[in-house]
Amino acid sequence: MVELPADIGDELLARAAALAAFSEEEGALTRRFLTPAQRRASAQVMAWMEAAGITARIDPIGNVIGRWEGVSPGLPALIVGSHLDTVRDAGRYDGMLGVLAGTACVAALARARQRLPFAVEVIGFADEEGVRFGTGLLGSHAVAGTFDPAWLALRDADGVTLAEALAAYGLPLGAIGAAARRRSDVLAYLELHIEQGPVLERAGLPVGIVTAINGATRMTVAIAGTAGHAGTVPMAGRRDALAAAAECALAVEARCRSDGDLVGTVGTLAVRPGAINVIPGEARFTVDVRASEDKRRRSAADDILAANAAIAARRGVTLEQRVIHDQAAAPCAPWLMQRIERAMRAEGLTPFSLPSGAGHDGMTMQAIADIAMIFVRCAGGISHNPAEAITAADAAAGTRVLLRTIAAFEPRA
Ligand code: GLV
Ligand code: MN
Ligand code: MN
Repeated sequence: MVELPADIGDELLARAAALAAFSEEEGALTRRFLTPAQRRASAQVMAWMEAAGITARIDPIGNVIGRWEGVSPGLPALIVGSHLDTVRDAGRYDGMLGVLAGTACVAALARARQRLPFAVEVIGFADEEGVRFGTGLLGSHAVAGTFDPAWLALRDADGVTLAEALAAYGLPLGAIGAAARRRSDVLAYLELHIEQGPVLERAGLPVGIVTAINGATRMTVAIAGTAGHAGTVPMAGRRDALAAAAECALAVEARCRSDGDLVGTVGTLAVRPGAINVIPGEARFTVDVRASEDKRRRSAADDILAANAAIAARRGVTLEQRVIHDQAAAPCAPWLMQRIERAMRAEGLTPFSLPSGAGHDGMTMQAIADIAMIFVRCAGGISHNPAEAITAADAAAGTRVLLRTIAAFEPRA
């Protein structure tokens, strides 16, 4: 039996703390796609992989990929992954825990010199959050072969295009296609992740099996009004871009408030020119809408686009809105969920299933493989927040389930 070290939980937490030091900001964890902080985090993960005897490389989109060959070289792979980028002022486990747990499992196989009838790959995806270029999951899109070359023209907040950022990172342009994997080379995709919600904690359980990942729509909205003197322009004649944006944000909240698990968020808002005594002439914001059912999510997104247009028309401001991300919900494969369930029982854990409200790389990986996820309980369900916390015991329990699932894995008949 392949074993994890007895102190694996402490090791995972220590490694997550070490990765948290690779940040774009002093005193906070922010690690966006293709930044120097990401280069350093990737180098650290590769160093851990190589020290464990796992071959590691950076692929053409910047993903870290470690590979443990099976009984003969070049066999199809079971891919275990998660992401190494973060949101702004992030917690240290969202994404990283899955990469570290996968690395620990493969390191255990390597230590035991255990060759399986398939290869195991651990991927640390370079972009899942989409914080830098707005549209997310770029790392797994490249691996799934669904990367749209039009995305190379996307610009970050500093006006740098994705193509320029890739070149500055030293990744050859035009090679992204080479990151794509064929369905015949991938046996399944497994991801361990913190839950990012309160369900496991409320149930008193350390580990859960994900049933499906909710779908997501993201849009950018730009409103142009007329900047003017805050003291002289009468209220009746104003074309205040921020007031219009505020009304749109409330419309998003109202539309998403009472429709099952539908959720809607205006997560960014930038106002220009931005002075205490100037009527805002321009407001830009983003909208993020999620639901388990694609039909309900798309209908809400259409309603939000229509509501924004009606608000803008009534207020006499101009509106430009664009859907930049439309990711279908991703069901987890029942046959893989059963394997995880078996591993949980073998670990003496009560199997428990729950959906994922957050997005994950499996949403894109489902284009080339069946997917499944293991959730680990997190404190208070808090995530996308530096207060994100897990226990060493829970991290160890989830990783033991992952290792058992890998070690007992048999491709679908
Ligand atoms: C990623 O964490 C997302 O769900 O946006
Ligand atoms: Mn996240
Ligand atoms: Mn994540």
